[in-house]
This record gives sequence, C-alpha cells and structure tokens, in this order.
Amino acid sequence: MDGIAEIRAKHLDAIGKAGDGEALETVRLAALGKKGEISLKMRELGRMSPEERKSAGPALNALKDEIDAALRARKAALDDAALEERLAREWLDITLPARSCPRGTVHPVSQVMEEMAAIFADMGFAVAEGPQVETDWHNFDALNIAPEHPARQEHDTFFMHREPGDNRPPHVLRTHTSPVQIRAMQAQGAPIRVIAPGRVYRMDMDQTHTPMFHQIEGLAIDRDITMANLKWVLEEFFSAYFGRPVRTRFRASHFPFTEPSAEVDIQCSWVNGQLRVGEGDDWMEVLGSGMVHPHVLRSAGIDPGQWQGFAFGMGIDRMAMLKYGIPDLRAFFESDLRWLRHYGFGALEMPSLHAG
Ligand code: DAH
Repeated sequence: MDGIAEIRAKHLDAIGKAGDGEALETVRLAALGKKGEISLKMRELGRMSPEERKSAGPALNALKDEIDAALRARKAALDDAALEERLAREWLDITLPARSCPRGTVHPVSQVMEEMAAIFADMGFAVAEGPQVETDWHNFDALNIAPEHPARQEHDTFFMHREPGDNRPPHVLRTHTSPVQIRAMQAQGAPIRVIAPGRVYRMDMDQTHTPMFHQIEGLAIDRDITMANLKWVLEEFFSAYFGRPVRTRFRASHFPFTEPSAEVDIQCSWVNGQLRVGEGDDWMEVLGSGMVHPHVLRSAGIDPGQWQGFAFGMGIDRMAMLKYGIPDLRAFFESDLRWLRHYGFGALEMPSLHAG
C-alpha cells in the first residue's frame, strides 16, 4: 500500500523528537487517535478489494504495533530521564554534621529558689517580693534598726547616689530580704504567711562573699504562732529540701527585728572532708530567726496586742552549694558557660516536693 513507509518514517521521527509527555501525546493522537493518520488508513480497508486488503491489513496492523511500541519506549525513556534529573537535583548529604541547637541551663540559684518555694507553698506560704533599691526606712528603721545602731555598719550598705542639694532620705541596695516582711505586712495585714526569695547586696568580697548574693525570708503572723511552729516549719523544710530527716539546733542570739532571736544550725557530719547534712553530730549555722519584734509589727501597721509570729532569713547560695556539692561561691556569678553547663539544670527538671 502506498505511503506506509512515509507514514512510518514521519511518526517515528516525531516520536524521537518529542521532548516531553505532552509532545508525545500529540504524536500519538496524530498517528493512532480517532482521527489519527493510521486509524484513518485502517478505516479505508473496508473499501478495498479483498486482494488489496490482504496485503494492506497486516502491514497497517504491524505499523500500528510498531508505532505503539515506539511511543511506549519513548515514554519510558522520558520518564527515566526526568527521574535521573530529579535525583541529581534533590540529593542530600546525610554525612554532614547536624545543625546545632543550643540549649541553656537553669542556674542552680534559680532552681533552688523554685525548690524552696515549692516546699514552703506546700506549708501555705505565698511568695512576696520587694524592690532591690529600697528605702533605708524599710531596710533599717522599720526593722527596729535605729540610725545609730551598729547593725547599719555591719551590713556594709551600698547607698544610692544623691545629687548635691537632694535631701531626700537615702535609698540603699537592700542588705537583706527582711524589708519585704514590712512591705508584705503593709500590703496584706495579718494573718499572713509569706516567703521572700531574692537578691541582696553588701560591700563584701572574698573567698566566701560576693557583693550580691541571695536570701530567702520567711514570715508567719497569726493570733497564736509560737517558736514551736517555727521549729516545726524549719525542720519540715530542711527535711524536704535535703530529702532526709534533718534535725535543727536553736541557739539564743540577737537581731533587732526579733525578740527572742535564735540562730539555727542543721545537723551534719564531716567525712573525709566531705560534708553530709542530716547525719552525725556536728552542727552548721544556716539561718537567723525569732519572734517578730512588736516594734516591727507596729511599723508595718499591725497591732502587736492582737498578732504575733515568727520570721527567719537564710542564705540561698550556700544552701545550693550544700545540696548540689558546689565548692566555690564566686563561680556562681562568673557566668562561665562550662560551669553553667556542668551545674545548671535542664528546663524540664521541674522542682517538685518529690524530686530527688
Ligand atoms: N536579715 C538577717 C540577715 O540578713 C537574717 C534574719 C535574721 C532574718 C533573723 C530574719 C530574722 O527574718 O528573724 O542577716
């Protein structure tokens, strides 16, 4: 039959040149589609003489099969090429080091403050706060520390700068957390049960002192609070904090803001230069305390004829050192990343009453 060779050559050529699936489909329609050239030729078979049909039929069928096979082969080749190209483009070097994801740590002082707050919260104490730049009235006078009292010198106070001619009473960097007692009682009155953890400042710097350090204050005022309550609360606290029963020893002392006053020691032992809290028969001083002085209640607007209670103040930094075996106080405030990574806590190591 005429033309078959040309038709074959033309379509095979077009298939070879088709650069993508769309072009290939156009070629398929032109050859084998309903109105495609080969389909039309096949329709003509009906009008042929039997003789003609005998040779044209198989030739057309063979052509159709050949074109069909060529389309498939070309399609497979195009798909392979597309895949190769994508694989070349989208490769990933899984041997590269992973991107770093820096993670901070919680400072031991922050962690310990949270632990302490959790233990005292369990005993009904709320957290109170006060300013670090404090009036000297709150820091001293209201706490029954008169201007000429030697405690003012003992505290090595930092005074805030005053311009010449500025005769306002001086502000100080608070030397202890005790002024928060005054502010809390002024704000809330009695009864009251609060702790006040925070920064305090004294002009002092040596092996065991830094000009800024941390204290926690405790205050409980009600109608019938006694030193027996104080002793129970402190023993309960130390036992929860150190995770084992800790005995306390009260020694008579003097603070202007409490009467009577006591310094409190916790039971400990030294084994091979290692300190262990809650065992043995040595004692270590850890806090000052007493029954809040009537003058202090009165300066905070509370009637000492109606109300009474205890207060205590304790250094936080040393409590952190004792619990977590941290040897040097000054390292607490040097912001050395190696130290922070070593002694710091993970963000998810939530302090709880039952945590180790
Ligand atoms: N404020 C005292 C200090 O910094 C500690 C203290 C002692 C606080 C006795 C108190 C207390 O509340 O009752 O040395």
